[in-house]
Amino acid sequence: MNRFIQYNPVKWIFGKGSINRLQAELAVYGKNILLVYGGGSIKRNGLYEEVLGKLNDDQVNVYELSGIEPNPRLAVVHKGVEICKKENIDFILAVGGGSVIDSAKAIAAGAKYSGDVWELISQGKPITEALPLGTILTLAATGSEMNAGLVITNTDTNEKIDWHSQYVFPKFSICDPTYTTTVPRDQTVFGIVDMMSHILEQYFHNGEDSNLQDSFSEITLKTIIETASKLLEEPENYDYRAKMMYAGTIALNGTLQSGYRGDWTAHIIEHAVSGIYHTPHGGGLAILFPIWMKYALASQPARFKQLAVRVFSVESTGKSDEQIGNEGIQALQQFWESLGVPSRLSHYGIDSSRLEEIVDRAMIRGEFGRFYPMNRKKVMEILQAAL
Ligand code: NZQ
Ligand code: ZN
Repeated sequence: MNRFIQYNPVKWIFGKGSINRLQAELAVYGKNILLVYGGGSIKRNGLYEEVLGKLNDDQVNVYELSGIEPNPRLAVVHKGVEICKKENIDFILAVGGGSVIDSAKAIAAGAKYSGDVWELISQGKPITEALPLGTILTLAATGSEMNAGLVITNTDTNEKIDWHSQYVFPKFSICDPTYTTTVPRDQTVFGIVDMMSHILEQYFHNGEDSNLQDSFSEITLKTIIETASKLLEEPENYDYRAKMMYAGTIALNGTLQSGYRGDWTAHIIEHAVSGIYHTPHGGGLAILFPIWMKYALASQPARFKQLAVRVFSVESTGKSDEQIGNEGIQALQQFWESLGVPSRLSHYGIDSSRLEEIVDRAMIRGEFGRFYPMNRKKVMEILQAAL
């Protein structure tokens, strides 16, 4: 097994009524709190009132930054940084999905940086400090609640870029599955595709002797698959929402990758696509991931065979590894299609007119793909196959 360092300081507060911990968690920080949220779902489902009630009980000074959009934008991050600097904000509380949490992380970094926060993100610069932040998660998908990553879009340049720093790990994340019962069907499904994609990105690695890690990934994938259709039939079922929320966090909090570095090609290409077209992250992954898999299959069919047999119970007798692997990819694709996600980029009105631009964005940090190395030509072929 390979060497690794695992560091994750997030206090994970999970389950019904977890919000009752909020005041205790905030007590060690100062009184000026920036509350960050999205386009209004927390007002419609009552969470906003609940949070404000708790903050008011503590007589803290609450400043608000609302209107964070999916695929969050740099402009709103700038706005948040300005509030933090002007009002001497002590703590940022993000209430929402990945977009809200990612914005809060970027604001936390920018608030302690003398230059433009985009310099940090676009140039991958390290930092030495950030404002502390905490989260109340409302959508199971990205794992941002328990990782050190963020993804921000600069609409001036059409760049959607991820950035990581241990200083933006949330101090705590309150994960009450009850808050996810109001997530609409399409976002629920995008979240399922996203968390499965995170597991798969890490599953496709070149390490050896990874049976235990692989088994964690496989059982997590199987649990998500088994739970998905039940959840879509009963969207308010707490237990199904809880399984999904737990799986979404596990999928990208470091647990599944110990010692191995995943591929991440589908994510890199998806970010390039949604940076230009503002398409939903999970929707893009549902299209691109199976195409990448078919593309990479012949290079290492044994890995695809393992996934097919262990997760999708593909019958292997008398078939080549490549045939078995291909049946596994088809099973994944059929599963995602059964949830109602698109399978072609044309679904989002994307045609061949801006493919070169997408490839440029994908290649912005040079060649990538740790499991199956990519270059411009291959990225273009995957995109053309996805139209
Ligand atoms: O804005 P509001 O009104 O809150 O509505 C949101 C939004 O429209 C809605 N929603 C969230 N919770 C809800 C709810 N609606 C009803 N009830 C609730 N309880 O859902 C919509 C989508 O929200 P968003 O936060 O954009 O979704 P998600 O959590 O999927 O985040 C996607 C973003 O995260 C990035 C993606 O690229 C994308 O920008 N990612 C972040 C990662 C990370 N930080 O580790 C990793 C991922 O791979 C991903 O790239
Ligand atoms: Zn993702």
